[in-house]
Amino acid sequence: MLQDYLKAGYPAIVILTQEPARAEQILPIEGWNFYCWDCIRGIRPAKQATPVEEIRDPVMAINWLNNFQNRVLMAENLHLFLNIPEVIQSLANGVLRWKASGCCLVMVSPLLEVSPEVEKLFTVIDLPLPDTQELYNLQSELAQSVNGVEANPKAALAARGLTEFEAETAFSLSLIQKGYFSETIITEQKKQMIKKSGLMEFWPPTDIEDVGGLENLKDYVRNRAKAFEPGNEHLPKPKGILLVGIPGTGKSLSAKAIANILNWPLIRLDIGALKTSLVGASEQRMREATRVIDAFGSCVVWIDEVEKAFAGVKSSGESDAGTTANLFSHFLIWMQETTTPMIVVATANDVSKLPPEFLRAGRFDATFFVDLPHLEERKEIIKIVNRRYATSIPIAYAEKLAGWSGSEIEQLAQVYQTAPS
Ligand SMILES: Nc1ncnc2c1ncn2[C@@H]1O[C@H](COP(=O)(O)OP(=O)(O)OP(=O)(O)O)[C@@H](O)[C@H]1O
Ligand SMILES: [Mg+2]
Repeated sequence: MLQDYLKAGYPAIVILTQEPARAEQILPIEGWNFYCWDCIRGIRPAKQATPVEEIRDPVMAINWLNNFQNRVLMAENLHLFLNIPEVIQSLANGVLRWKASGCCLVMVSPLLEVSPEVEKLFTVIDLPLPDTQELYNLQSELAQSVNGVEANPKAALAARGLTEFEAETAFSLSLIQKGYFSETIITEQKKQMIKKSGLMEFWPPTDIEDVGGLENLKDYVRNRAKAFEPGNEHLPKPKGILLVGIPGTGKSLSAKAIANILNWPLIRLDIGALKTSLVGASEQRMREATRVIDAFGSCVVWIDEVEKAFAGVKSSGESDAGTTANLFSHFLIWMQETTTPMIVVATANDVSKLPPEFLRAGRFDATFFVDLPHLEERKEIIKIVNRRYATSIPIAYAEKLAGWSGSEIEQLAQVYQTAPS
């Protein structure tokens, strides 16, 4: 992928990765002159330890590239120096020259933290995660040190989405605990990733039997769930369902029940919690969250009250340096491009507060308006709350409860439960 950009003459690229050492191993392309720089080791040919220039100063390192033709300089952690005016200026000057001289500065960085001055100069690409073959090879390497262990293609497949480091630790753990490469251990490690990321939480799904009414939604999910079954690869896979409606009508409840229908884990993504006050850090957290979801796969991603999360996208340029708008666009692009089997279920009270891009056709496969329950639905809800609270609200009350939401009927059950009979 980097090759295409280099051939096209891009002079400055940011490669986003947590694994600079792996970037150095896999990025250099045959026939191109790749060098690496960091502020301790200076400039050295890629994959070699001995420096050719003991340049520690970032400005001098950037300017070094001005003396050559057709060279690529991979700069590790250069983003840490992007608050220095001389660094910014040498980049801006350099980009003009490098275009003509076939050089390219590749900033290898774990986060996207480019100041507005240099933002336009850089093109951002993600370092691809190891593919199944690389993961399999990694197992083979590890297996060499242990007698009688063989690489397991299923465990390699299960490890997809992990970084090389994460996969290596998961494989090693599996060897220690089981003596072989176990798919189950890898999956368990992926669950740990979600927990450790601190960006998302597992939620227990709700039994679909506990949702009264909303038959259209249930039928839709049951029907579309078939697209995820083996042998149905030709069916289009739904990516998103939006549930809109007034409070207390069971939107959050349904989101949790959808996970139950699909028999997938439910992961709650709290966009508000992703936002930090550090410029660029929120975007980084969002990328990390979607990466972890991609790694995990086969899950329902629940975003509750999405209109609050993405409120003010339009004015975000003025209010929070564009952070909300960036989070929002990353999320939409990810939803569109990801090939991971997953469904985003978003709930909202007020669609008018949602940015129009969110509602554009094709983003969400279906939008359901969740209304106040009608008579039959109220009867069902009474049965459900009677069961849950061991109360005996007469089903006939459904007639009197027109205009009540599911949540209000639940409160009635709570009153019934505590009231002396
Ligand atoms: N259709 C329903 N069937 C069964 N219980 C329901 C239903 N609708 C609401 N309830 C009860 O009301 C509670 C609140 O519902 P829920 O949190 O899903 O509402 P909501 O639509 O997400 O509201 P809000 O917009 O305020 O977030 C549920 O936990 C459930 O006990
Ligand atoms: Mg809710």
